[in-house]
Amino acid sequence: MNDVGPQRTHTDTPVPPQPILRARGVIKTYHAGTQEVPALRGIDLDVHVGELVTVMGPSGNGKTTLLNCLSGLDNIDAGTVTVDGADLFAMSDAKRTRHRATRMSFVFQAFNLIPVLSAAENVELPLLITGVPHKAARKRAHDVLGRVGLGDRADHRPGELSGGEQQRVTVARALVGEPALIWADEPTGALDSRTAGDIIELLLEVHAAGQTLVIVTHDEGLGRTGQRLVQVRDGRIVHDGDPRTAPAASELVPVAAVTVTATSAEVVL
Ligand SMILES: Nc1ncnc2c1ncn2[C@@H]1O[C@H](COP(=O)(O)OP(=O)(O)OP(=O)(O)O)[C@@H](O)[C@H]1O
Ligand SMILES: [Mg+2]
Repeated sequence: MNDVGPQRTHTDTPVPPQPILRARGVIKTYHAGTQEVPALRGIDLDVHVGELVTVMGPSGNGKTTLLNCLSGLDNIDAGTVTVDGADLFAMSDAKRTRHRATRMSFVFQAFNLIPVLSAAENVELPLLITGVPHKAARKRAHDVLGRVGLGDRADHRPGELSGGEQQRVTVARALVGEPALIWADEPTGALDSRTAGDIIELLLEVHAAGQTLVIVTHDEGLGRTGQRLVQVRDGRIVHDGDPRTAPAASELVPVAAVTVTATSAEVVL
């Protein structure tokens, strides 16, 4: 007897895609003199291919620490972080540096461009470091500068560019190696609102082209534009999901204020 239609076996069960980033139970405590600052108190986070995740939360609550620890820029005290299939903290420092350089890139508030190099030279640098021949690296740098709207500024040094243009160069530098994941920490923090809007638009275009991005931001417009908003408070994730159902920034009150309301009799300020 011939069956009509496709055979259904257990192998037809769709296998969920592996996340680009998987963090489990990440704990980070800073030691400053005799003081201990618990900056991350147990972070679980998965980011899948093509996602745009925005991270928001009050100042000093662990957003930059989360980015630094989950990208392997900084060490962690406990937990695991897997990026593109490799456990970051199970490898040597040298391997982790290489894994980061080939799989991830960064956009920071302070553009971190090398002042004596032209825009094209800044952009091609990550490729040269990973061994791409100079001619190919230069061509890729020019292509990607064109993509961020700076085709005619390739020979300018950072000091000869506006703030918004410098941030475009850093976005180009982040894109040039075709990383699995781009991290951005306050990418619009140093820009006026109009220029910030241009950079947000550029990042959204980059995402629409298929790039996976995690962006830490205080910009409510950007934070609530993404598909997924992660809110961090006191070193923990307190919301992860639809930006429309996330608590307003004003509801993320400082820890001391919450403690006072809840247990005022026990609190000594
Ligand atoms: N190198 C360090 N040594 C000691 N404490 C640190 C260090 N870096 C950060 N901290 C502390 O860890 C906590 C989290 O800092 P973090 O920079 O992650 O906050 P943030 O949410 O990024 O804040 P902001 O929105 O102001 O950038 C803060 O209390 C901060 O003072
Ligand atoms: Mg920060």
